[in-house]
Amino acid sequence: MNLKGRSFLTLKDFTPEEIGGLLDLAAELKAKKKQGITGNSLKGKNIALIFEKPSTRTRSSFTIGCVDEGGHPEYLGRDDIQLGHKESVEDTARVLGRMFDGIEFRGFAQETVEKLAKYSGVPVWNGLTDEYHPTQILADFLTLREQFGKLAGLKLVYVGDGRNNMANSLMIGSAKMGLDFVILAPKSLWPGEELISLCRNYAVESGAKLTVTDDIGAVEGADAIYTDVWCSMGEEDKAAERVALLAPYQVNAAMMAKTGKDSTVFLHCLPAVKGKEVTEDVFEKHADFVFDEAENRMHTIKAVMVATLGER
Ligand code: CP
Ligand code: NVA
Repeated sequence: MNLKGRSFLTLKDFTPEEIGGLLDLAAELKAKKKQGITGNSLKGKNIALIFEKPSTRTRSSFTIGCVDEGGHPEYLGRDDIQLGHKESVEDTARVLGRMFDGIEFRGFAQETVEKLAKYSGVPVWNGLTDEYHPTQILADFLTLREQFGKLAGLKLVYVGDGRNNMANSLMIGSAKMGLDFVILAPKSLWPGEELISLCRNYAVESGAKLTVTDDIGAVEGADAIYTDVWCSMGEEDKAAERVALLAPYQVNAAMMAKTGKDSTVFLHCLPAVKGKEVTEDVFEKHADFVFDEAENRMHTIKAVMVATLGER
């Protein structure tokens, strides 16, 4: 796998072999870190971390991943820089590209992260936009692989807001990696037709199965149930409407029982709103696994930086 110089904007741009290679690298870096071994592959590299939206895991992962590999991270929050206020994305990109070796962006428009990549001339990594959250999928897949020893053929059911960044990116990743993937959501929150049809094409290649349904019976046989907040960042005004729509899709003990398996794991990208998309009892029962998933953000994000920018 040679990803040197590439940006990481959406999983659409990566082959199953490249995604698998990033997971292998993350597993290797994780094993080394557990032995107290960190690297030097980002030595002398300066990395900009642009955050239009808040973050705990993603910010910490980029910071620690960068420092572990000898690089220098610089946090640029929404009120710290001119981007979006006084300066265009194109101009900010050209300035940062002259100073930094890599740029992480978290924010609203996917177009912004794409423009940053186009105009900066350095690798740009998507730390979440309204449309996609590709680094999260690497952590989810590493966690599933650690648990089940494989990805292809696993039945992964994503329940809740079926058209948010997590649903979109999980569908792309699952279709590429051969999972049996289900979006379980009310019809008004299904993913866009265009993305579904793109993923159906990936599924033909990989042998993945892709189902979009509002029937809760679809959790039967699930190896993993995944959910996310009902209102993503920037959609806080939709809270009442979403609660009304999504209450039947809460991940609770009754839904977990409907899988018919004791071995079903629960995943959540976090932060979680307990009592809404997941009950406290289900969350706590699976907390160790969910926090392994959170830890894996760091190992996988480090792998993305090392693969695209690092000297190995
Ligand atoms: N899962 C995730 O992206 O978390 P943060 O918003 O804390 O970065
Ligand atoms: N869908 C959520 C994911 C948070 C990691 C959001 O965008 O707020």
